[in-house]
Amino acid sequence: MHFIEMKNIRKQFGPLTVLHDVSMSLEKGQVVSIIGPSGAGKSTFLRCLNHLEVIQSGSICVDGDYLVRTDQGKAVYAGEKNIRKICGRMGMVFQSFNLFPHMTVLDNVTAAPLYVKKMEKKDILPVAEELLQKVGLWEKRDVYPGSLSGGQKQRVAIARALAMSPDIMLFDEPTSALDPELTGEVLKTIHQLADENMTMVIVTHEMAFAKSVSDKVLFMVDGRVEEEGSSSDVFDSPQSGRTRAFLQSILH
Ligand SMILES: Nc1ncnc2c1ncn2[C@@H]1O[C@H](COP(=O)(O)OP(=O)(O)OP(=O)(O)O)[C@@H](O)[C@H]1O
Ligand SMILES: [Mg+2]
Repeated sequence: MHFIEMKNIRKQFGPLTVLHDVSMSLEKGQVVSIIGPSGAGKSTFLRCLNHLEVIQSGSICVDGDYLVRTDQGKAVYAGEKNIRKICGRMGMVFQSFNLFPHMTVLDNVTAAPLYVKKMEKKDILPVAEELLQKVGLWEKRDVYPGSLSGGQKQRVAIARALAMSPDIMLFDEPTSALDPELTGEVLKTIHQLADENMTMVIVTHEMAFAKSVSDKVLFMVDGRVEEEGSSSDVFDSPQSGRTRAFLQSILH
C-alpha cells in the first residue's frame, strides 16, 4: 500500500468528464509534480485529493485511510469524521494567496490553529514565530498583507498552511501569480520543505523547479496521464511525442 494512492479517478462537471481514470501514488516524504497544458485537469485532480472536489468513481487512500472508494461503479465517501481526519493532514497553497487582509501576518498564521484546532495562544505563538522565521518573514509579523510583495504573501500563505502541522502539502501553481523576480524566493521555500522530507504534490509550470524537486512527475493532457516517471525520465527522455512537444513549447 502506498502512502497516498489515487486510483482510477473519474471526475465530471455535469456532462463534461474532466478526469478519465487518473491514478497517482506516492510514498511518504516524496514529491510529485503534475505538469501539463491549461485545462488538462491538474488543479481538479489535486483538489480531489483534499476533498475540494467530489469524484464520480475511483478511490483515494491516504496512509491506509480511505477518503473515498468505489462500490458497484459509484464513489462512496468516508464519514464526515474520517474525511476531516484525512483532510486535516493536508495543507494547501493556492495561486492566489487568500490571506486575511484585516489581520497581521502573525494573526494570519495563528488563526486556524486558534479557531479551528482550538489551540491556546501561548502554544501556537512560538510555533508561528518559528514558521515565520523559516520562511524569512519574522520581521514582518506585525504588518498587514497589503504591504507585502506577492512573494512575501505567498511565503506567509505557506507558513499559515504549515501552522496546522500537515504531513502532506499540496501546491497549485504557487508562483504563477508572481512577477518572475519573486518566484525564486517561494520556490526556495518549497525546496526547503522537500529537503525536510515533507510529502508534497505540486502543480507547477516551473519546469526547472519541477525537475529538481520531484521524485516523480506526471504529465497530464485532456484529463488523462499522458506520461509518468522519475524526474529524469520525463524531462530528459520523454517517451510520448505530446510530452516532448509540451516541454519544447514551455522551454523555448
Ligand atoms: N467548477 C467547474 N465547473 C465546470 N468545469 C470546470 C470546473 N473547474 C474546472 N472545470 C473544467 O475542467 C477542466 C480541467 O480544469 P482544471 O482547472 O483542472 O485544469 P488545469 O490543468 O488546472 O488548467 P490550468 O493550467 O489552466 O490551471 C477544464 O476543461 C475546466 O474548464
Ligand atoms: Mg489549474
